[in-house]
Amino acid sequence: MEATTIAFERYQPLADDACEARILAARAGLGKRAVILGHHYQRADVYKHADLTGDSLKLSKLAAQTQSEYIVFCGVHFMAEVADILSKPGQVTVLPDLNAGCSMADMANLAKVERAWRELAQVLDPERHVTPVTYINSAADLKAFCGEHGGVVCTSSNTRSILEWSFAQRDKVLFFPDQHLGRWTGYLMNIPLAEMLVWDPDEELGGLTPQQIKMAKVLLWKGHCSVHQMFQPQHILRWREQNPSGMVVSHPECKFDVCKLSDYVGSTEFIIKTITASPPGTRWLVGTELNLVNRIAEQYKAQGKVIQFMAPTVCMCSTMARIDPQHLAWTLENLLAGDIVNQIRVPPHEAELARIALDRMLAVS
Ligand code: 13P
Ligand code: SF4
Repeated sequence: MEATTIAFERYQPLADDACEARILAARAGLGKRAVILGHHYQRADVYKHADLTGDSLKLSKLAAQTQSEYIVFCGVHFMAEVADILSKPGQVTVLPDLNAGCSMADMANLAKVERAWRELAQVLDPERHVTPVTYINSAADLKAFCGEHGGVVCTSSNTRSILEWSFAQRDKVLFFPDQHLGRWTGYLMNIPLAEMLVWDPDEELGGLTPQQIKMAKVLLWKGHCSVHQMFQPQHILRWREQNPSGMVVSHPECKFDVCKLSDYVGSTEFIIKTITASPPGTRWLVGTELNLVNRIAEQYKAQGKVIQFMAPTVCMCSTMARIDPQHLAWTLENLLAGDIVNQIRVPPHEAELARIALDRMLAVS
C-alpha cells in the first residue's frame, strides 16, 4: 500500500520543543537508514540534530561516502543537488524545505552563462582559451555546463588549487557566480587586479571591449553573497582600535578590502579550525554568517576566547534558516511512514555532466 504524505500544515503550528521530541523519535525509528547532514550556517535547533557537519567541500565528500538510504540535507538547494549527484544509485536526498535556496547561486543561470560563452566566441575560441569554473554555490545545470566545456567546480576551501588546475588547461578563466571569491583567490596567486575584470551578464560582451577580454586573465561574474557583502572595512578598523592584539578571520565571499584587512581568510571549516587552534584568551572578529559565529562564541567562552561578529547588523543566511525544526520533523516523520517528501532529483543527463566537473574538483582537492 502506498504511503500518504502527512501535510506540512500539521507541523507549522508546533512549538520548537514539541518538534524536538518528534525529531528525536523519528530519527531513532529511522536508525541507520537516514543520515542528517548539516551545514555550519544551520540554525542551532536544527544543527544539533545533524549526524555530520561541515563546509560545502566536506559535506559533498561525506554525501559521496554515506551508505544510508536517505540523505536529509540541512543546508541549501545546491548542496542537496551535489549530494544527489555524488550519492549511489538508490539513495535518496531530501531537502526539508525546497525554498532553502542561495541568492548568490541565483545570480547566474544557464541561459546567461551560455550567452556569455557565445559572446566570448566572438572574440576568441573559448574552448581553447577559457576554463569555465563554477563555485559550488550554483545550480546543477551550471556544473553540467562546466563538465561539458572542460571546466570544473570549486568550493571556498579549494579555489586556489582549482584555479591552478584551470590555468594548466587554458590561459583564461570564466569564474561564476561569486566575483569576490574569484578576485581574492586570483590576488593570492599574484594575478594583477587589472587582469581580473568583471563580466556583467546583463551587458553585451559582459560590458567589456574585445581588447579587454583578450588581455584579461580572469573574467569575474558579477555576482555576490548578500550576507557576506554586508561586512565592511570600517568594521575591522573600528574593532582593531579597541582590540589591538585581536585577530580577524573572514570568509572569502567577503569583499576584497575586507579580505585584505583580515589576518586569515578561509571557508567555514577553516574559520572553525583556526579559532579552535588559537590559544585561550584570544580575541577574534569573524566575518561570516551569524549562526556559525554565535555557535563558536558560545563553544569557546569557557576557554576565555572572545569571538565577535563583524557587522553591527544581523547578517543571517535567511534561506538556510528556512530549514527549521518544523520542516525537519515533517521530513523525518514522513520518511518513517514510508513517504519521501522534497526529494532532490537532478535529471540523469545533467547529473552525468555535472559529475564530471565535480570529479575533476575532487581529484584536485
Ligand atoms: P563554505 O564552503 O565555507 O561552506 O561556504 C558556503 C557558503 O555558502 C558560504 O556562504
Ligand atoms: Fe548563499 Fe550567501 Fe547563504 Fe552562502 S550565505 S548559502 S552564499 S546566500
